[in-house]
Order: sequence, then structure tokens, then C-alpha cells
Amino acid sequence: MKIAFFDAKPYDKPSFDKYGAENGIKFKYFETKLNEDTVDLAHGYDGVCVFVNDTVNAAVIDRLYEMGVRFVALRCAGFNNVDCRHAFGKVHVMRVPAYSPYAVAEHAMAMLLTSIRRIHKAYIRTRDFNFSLSGMTGFDLHGKTVGVIGTGRIGRVFIDICRGFGMKVLAYDKYRAEGLDNGDTVRYTELDELFAKSDIISLHCPLTEETYHLINDEALQKCKRGVVILNTSRGALVDAEALLNGIKSRKVGAACLDVYEEESEFFFEDFSGHILEDDILARLISMPNVIVTSHQAFLTEEALSNIAETTVNNIVELTKNGQCQNELCYRCGSAEDCKGGKCF
Ligand code: NAI
Repeated sequence: MKIAFFDAKPYDKPSFDKYGAENGIKFKYFETKLNEDTVDLAHGYDGVCVFVNDTVNAAVIDRLYEMGVRFVALRCAGFNNVDCRHAFGKVHVMRVPAYSPYAVAEHAMAMLLTSIRRIHKAYIRTRDFNFSLSGMTGFDLHGKTVGVIGTGRIGRVFIDICRGFGMKVLAYDKYRAEGLDNGDTVRYTELDELFAKSDIISLHCPLTEETYHLINDEALQKCKRGVVILNTSRGALVDAEALLNGIKSRKVGAACLDVYEEESEFFFEDFSGHILEDDILARLISMPNVIVTSHQAFLTEEALSNIAETTVNNIVELTKNGQCQNELCYRCGSAEDCKGGKCF
């Protein structure tokens, strides 16, 4: 079986080659992203393997279908870049629902600690033999309130980490997890209370029409002065311009962003030596209290291996059974997996 692998990076290849070889699957690696201009590269392949910034819109799906490509294997959890409704009946769409919630949750905490203890500043200072501490005062996490939006796999690991630091957790989810609210250190609440009482807000929900710009001007107005915003989920959960204004007005004390609204233009590529065209991103990065990593939260050895293994298993399962547990389906009328693609 031959798969066209888009947006390939050197760190993807070892695990995919290993699990592919074990299952008779050959990956052809294309550095380019999948979109309307590049879709024809998939001609002659059984399926495509794509990541977060590939475009799987109606036009791409129609062309894949015309060329006889039977499936889209997402090597990520989020699927906001796929028009699943349009894909229904044309190409199967599978994803990797979980590969390492620890990778993302630990990265979120790493960013938070870096930011509030000014580690990013200290690293640069001491390399220049500047051992002054002025401007380096941080704050304790112990006793602070963290608002966690989205209490799925990653959100719950992040909550565990925060509890280890002695923080209080206010949680919000459209579908509450049983057994998480202990009425004391972890409590479910509505968004308005979470905004009003949290010292730190961390986003762990998917990007949907409902969650688009969840953190906008109006939400920031409701927040405490000095709130720290952590986004390791999807860029467009945060209105970047509103965030920038919040930082300029000192309403937002710090922001840690592993994702950015318009990241597909820039993230994962080397733009050093270029003039960054995105003024909002450039301005955010220039702020002393903003830390940006380029969608790196997932990038651990464990996660890369799990991603490749599950992606290959998805392809094998689909080929054998005509359906797959990790298939996405919109015929059911929900954005949830239909548990086996039975509606396809
Ligand atoms: P999950 O599906 O286990 O959890 C998502 C949670 O969000 C669920 O509990 C769900 O009920 C909740 N949710 C759905 N709609 C909501 C709404 N309107 N408001 C509030 N909560 C809502 O997903 P998981 O594995 O925890 O991943 C969370 C997100 O993290 C993914 O959607 C993805 O966008 C992002 N992610 C980022 C990575 C990175 O490298 N930065 C890597 C992996 C995932």
C-alpha cells in the first residue's frame, strides 16, 4: 500500500518507516502541505497522511475522490482543518485521538513556569554574564486558581499537574467528566465565574464554531487584571488581536502560546532572516511577557512513536474491515467519532 505523506518533517520519518515496514505500507514523504495546489501529488496513492496545517477542504476532498484516493489519515487529534461533512461518502477520515496527553499538558506547565519565573529572560541574561535579578520577580503557583477549559484527556492531565503544585482548579467543559469535581480543589463552573476568578486560564478544548475566539475582548473584560493565558490547543480559540490589546492595556499579565490563529503560514518553518509579514504575531513575540512555541507541545519521542503506531493501525484496520474505530463521521450529526465509521 502506498501513502502520500504531506508536510513531512525529518522527525516524522523514523517512526512511520518502522511501523509502515512492519505492515507493508510505504510512505512517500512530501515536504509540501496538502492543499488545492498540491493535491495532485496524491495521484496513484491509496491514501494521504496529513497533519494540523494541511488543508482538507471540499475542493481537496473532491480531487482526492476523483483520483481514487480512499482515505485521509490524520496524524493528529484535532480535525478542524478537515471538512468532514463533505468527506462523508467520499473518503474515510481517521485520526489519532490520543498519543500522549502528558506531552501537551507537561509543555503547558513548562511554558507557564518559564513565563511566571522569567526563565526565558534569565537564560539570556546569564549567557551574557548578567547576574542581576531586577525585573525577575515571579509569583508562586501554590494557592493560585487555574481555570481549565476542556477537561478531556489533556485537560485532566494538566489538572493533575496543577493539583501537584497546590493550585485550585475551576473547570469548564460542555460535557463534564464524572468524578473530577471534588467540590474543593477541583470544581466545575460556568465560563463567567472561571473568567472572573482565575489567575491563569489554560485552554484544552477543540476548535469548533462554538469555541472560535472563546478568548476575545468580551471574555478578557471579565478576567482578573494580570490573568495569564495559556493556549496549547488551537490558535483560533484566542482572538490574537484582542489578546495583544489585553497585553498592551496590562489586563493580561502574560501569555504562553503554542498555537496561533494564523500559524499555518509560519509554524514548523524557518523564517529567520525573513521579514515576518504578520504584524500581530511579530508584536506578540516582541512582548517580554509573551512566550511563543511553534506547535511543539506534542513533540516528544513517546508521542511521535504513538502517533505513527496508531496511524498505521488505523490504515490497517480500515483496509481489513472497511471501517476503523478512529474514523470521524458527521452523518451522526455530531462532531464526535461515530465509533467505527459505521455510518460511512
Ligand atoms: P479530548 O477530546 O480528550 O478533550 C476535549 C474536551 O473538550 C472534551 O472533554 C470535550 O467535552 C471538551 N469540549 C468540547 N467542546 C467544548 C466546548 N464548546 N467548550 C468547552 N469544552 C468543550 O481532546 P484532548 O486530547 O484533550 O485534546 C484537546 C485539544 O488539544 C485538541 O482539540 C487539540 O486541538 C489540542 N492539541 C494540541 C496539541 C499541540 O501539540 N499543541 C497536540 C494535541 C492536541
